This record gives sequence, C-alpha cells and structure tokens, in this order.
Amino acid sequence: MSTFVERATELTRSALVGVAMSLAQEVGIFRILASSDCPLTSGQVAEAGKLKERYARELLGCLATARLVEVSKSGDEELQYSLEDGASEALNARLGPFLTFPSLLASIFSPVKDCFYKDGPTSVRYTDQVHDILDSISRASAPGVAETFLAKVPDLKIKLDKGIDVIEFGSGRGRLSATLAQQFPNSRFVASEVVPDLVKTNKDRWAHIANLTFSLDDLCSVPEVPNKQYDWVFCCDVIHDLPNPLAALQGIKRMLRQPNGLFSFLDIATSGSPLKDKGSMHVASFYALGTFLCIPESYQRSDSLALGPCSGKHTIAGLATKAGFQVKDVPVEDMTALFICELPK
Ligand SMILES: C[S@@+](CC[C@H](N)C(=O)[O-])C[C@H]1O[C@@H](n2cnc3c(N)ncnc32)[C@H](O)[C@@H]1O
Repeated sequence: MSTFVERATELTRSALVGVAMSLAQEVGIFRILASSDCPLTSGQVAEAGKLKERYARELLGCLATARLVEVSKSGDEELQYSLEDGASEALNARLGPFLTFPSLLASIFSPVKDCFYKDGPTSVRYTDQVHDILDSISRASAPGVAETFLAKVPDLKIKLDKGIDVIEFGSGRGRLSATLAQQFPNSRFVASEVVPDLVKTNKDRWAHIANLTFSLDDLCSVPEVPNKQYDWVFCCDVIHDLPNPLAALQGIKRMLRQPNGLFSFLDIATSGSPLKDKGSMHVASFYALGTFLCIPESYQRSDSLALGPCSGKHTIAGLATKAGFQVKDVPVEDMTALFICELPK
C-alpha cells in the first residue's frame, strides 16, 4: 500500500474515533465512568446518564476497541467498562473540553466549507460553543496562565500589588482577568472584547469583582489618541486571530503609559513552516484548528492578514518589533510562547 493510502486510512480511522470520543464526552460517558469506583456495564452507564443502552453500548465498543476505556468481563460474563487511574483528573482539567473540539469542528463544517469558495462568504465568527469551550479550558488553565505572566514578566507582581491600570484584550468569557483581579485588589482591571454579547454576559458574570470593569473594543481600531493609558496590557491567543495584527500592536503601543508601560501576550509558537514541523501531529492539529476556527474568525474584513495559529514565533515577534516594541519571547509549555514587549528606552 502507498504511504498516502496508509496515512489517509489511518488518519480517517483516528478522525472517526475522535468524533465518537467527542460524543462520549458530551453525553457524559467519560464522566460516568470516571465517577464510578468499579467497572460499569453498558446498561449501568446508560442508566446513570439517562441514555439509550443500545447507543451507549455501541459507543463503549468503539472506545474500548480504541483502548480509550478498559473493558473486561463481569462474573456473569457481561462486558464492563472502566477508565484507567488518573483519567478522571485529566478529564476535569484541560482534557475534557479539549475532547469536544472534533464535535465543534463537525458543527461548523458546512459554513467553513462555504468559505473556501471564491464566491462564498469570507468569515465564520466564533460561536457561543467556541467561547464556552475556551472558557472551560480557561477554568483549568487560568491560574497557571496567571502564574506564567507573574513569574516571567519583569516586576509585574510588584506593580500589581502596588496598584496599576490593566486591560486584557480579547478576554473571551473573562476568566483570566477575573482571576488576576481577585488576586490583586489594588489594581484596576478591564476585560475587553469585540463581541457585544460577551461584554454583556461578562458584566453580569463577574459583577462581584469590584476592581474589574468591561469594555467593548475592536483592537484593530484603537484611536490615534486613546481615551485611556494603561500600565499593563495583555492578551492570550488573540493576536493571531486579528484581521490586522500590526495595527492592533501599534494601537496597544499608543495605549501604554510612558515610560514603563508593558505589553505581554501568549500565543502559539510553531516553527511557521510545515517543512520543519513535518510529522508533528500536534502542529498538524493546530493547522486543523486554524482552518476551522482562526482563519474564519480573523476574516472579519476581506483584507485580513489571516495569520492563523501556525504563522510561527518569528512572524509574531517580527510584527511586534515592527510595531515599535522591544520584544523578548520566552517559551512556555504546550507550543506556546510568552512575548514580553517593552517600549523602547
Ligand atoms: C482564541 S480566542 C481567545 C479568548 C481568550 N483570550 C482565551 O484565551 O480563551 C480570541 C478572542 O479574540 C477576540 N477577538 C477577535 N477579533 C478581535 C478584535 N478585532 N478585537 C478584539 N478582540 C478580538 C475574540 O472575540 C475571541 O474572544
């Protein structure tokens, strides 16, 4: 068999199981198995999740065959299923929401497909489901992300303790800003979004945090003379999603309070070349997410730069340098870099 046929067959099989796995996560099969202290039959799983047994059994067969769940025989010869030790903790952290990406991509398959054609639409904006998944990931990761900023951005913790003005752009559902605002009550935080509904729901959701306010901004259209200056501007996984990242970076620079204003952002940091990343399924999956999510999101305007998540660390750092920052990038886990941008001295 040719390499192409082998790879395509293997990947299609993995994709089929991946979509089934997403379904198992969404209908609660992993949660049910994880919360049981003994193996369960398909009937018991179905009962616990208010599911139809026949559907649950077929899906469990898939998961067991793919070695995602363990399968054994009970005393009365019935098949019973369980999860390996440690799976439960992982599912409650980032893995759980990550497993739902295949079903998310399936749900936007047609609109994204339409975007490919020259006479089709240009953009599919993030749906509520996308923001929900990102928020679930953030529930597990926000404390660690906050710690990364605090540990690696020079003097940040001292400044935040003392009390400074901070804004996060593209805050999504606002969890990271909320985490930091609660940790540093002397500082004043703004969680900014371009999506009006997010600003509205964030206002209600985090109303109990006195030093956190909300604003609606298009980061690519910062006024020549910004309404307000900030001591620290930050964002996570936003720059590569913007139609005009250079204009955004220049706008952020105008917003920084002279002379010590700081901008730092986390973004995906691949090599930028499929030649170098050849064989990495991790990077390949970022290209897949780029195809379905980042490119359609960034085409808010037909002249979008549409960087995508895999433009590479050097491209992103180069844009920040072009915008007039002194840039240092620090690798952090999971193919992400922290870009620390200072005003020129
Ligand atoms: C990949 S999400 C990241 C969300 C959040 N920071 C996180 O890490 O979960 C990118 C965010 O950028 C926001 N965004 C997209 N275009 C924008 C623009 N022109 N100005 C400001 N934010 C924008 C989106 O609404 C979305 O919430």
